[in-house]
Order: sequence, then C-alpha cells, then structure tokens
Amino acid sequence: MDSQARLEHVAIAVPDLEAAVQVYSTILGRAVAGREHVESEGVRVAFFELDGPRLELLEPTGPDTPIGRFLERRGPGLHHIALEVPDIEGAIERCRAAGLETVGEAPRTGAGRRKVAFLHPGGTGGVLLELSQRADEP
Ligand code: CO
Repeated sequence: MDSQARLEHVAIAVPDLEAAVQVYSTILGRAVAGREHVESEGVRVAFFELDGPRLELLEPTGPDTPIGRFLERRGPGLHHIALEVPDIEGAIERCRAAGLETVGEAPRTGAGRRKVAFLHPGGTGGVLLELSQRADEP
C-alpha cells in the first residue's frame, strides 16, 4: 500500500444529474462545487467538496457508455470509489502482479486531467476501484 494513498472521491451513477444535484445540495446545505463533461468516458460529472474526499454524481451522455450500461444493468447507485496514489504505474504493476484485472486502458486520462485506472470489482470485494494520480503541475 502506498503510504500516501487516500480516499479521493466516491462516485454515484444517476440518470438525471440536475435532480441529483438538487438532492445532494439539500443534504449537504451547499451548492455544487463544479461540473465537468468527460467526453472520452461519455459522462457528465457534478461534484461536491467535502471535508476529505469529493462526492461525484455521474450522468451518462447516452445509453452506450459505461455509466449508461451500469444504470441499465443495476439502476442508480454507488458506482466506484477512487483512491489517490502517488505512483499509478507502480500501483497498476503491483495489482496486476497480484492477479487483479484492470478495466479498459490503464492508465488513461480522466476528470481534472488525472491519470486514472480502474480495477475490476471481481478482485476488489465487489467494488469498482479507481486508482487516481494527480495531474502533473502545468
Ligand atoms: Co472517478
């Protein structure tokens, strides 16, 4: 385990981003902190800053996207949790050596220009796990 690993965000798949933003604004008593459209993943993201990890709401841009297919199969719900690691290539290598499977290209560029990689839930206790490394400073 990387000594600097930390919980970075928790992501919830929703069919209607605006409705979910309303609900979570009410729960948290604060406005949404930001939004992003990640075209490569076919997803619109709205996020709330918490004391610690962020809370992300994910709405698919269409049915034939990872989140669209998730909603079709499972309905709305917890989609993944993201752990920030300082060295994502090293983490991917360790995980693969231990028999954990990555999903899709790993690493690839995600929201906020982060390097991200997803580990298949089959090896992680049933939770889709995102490894995430901060973008290098510009
Ligand atoms: Co994520």
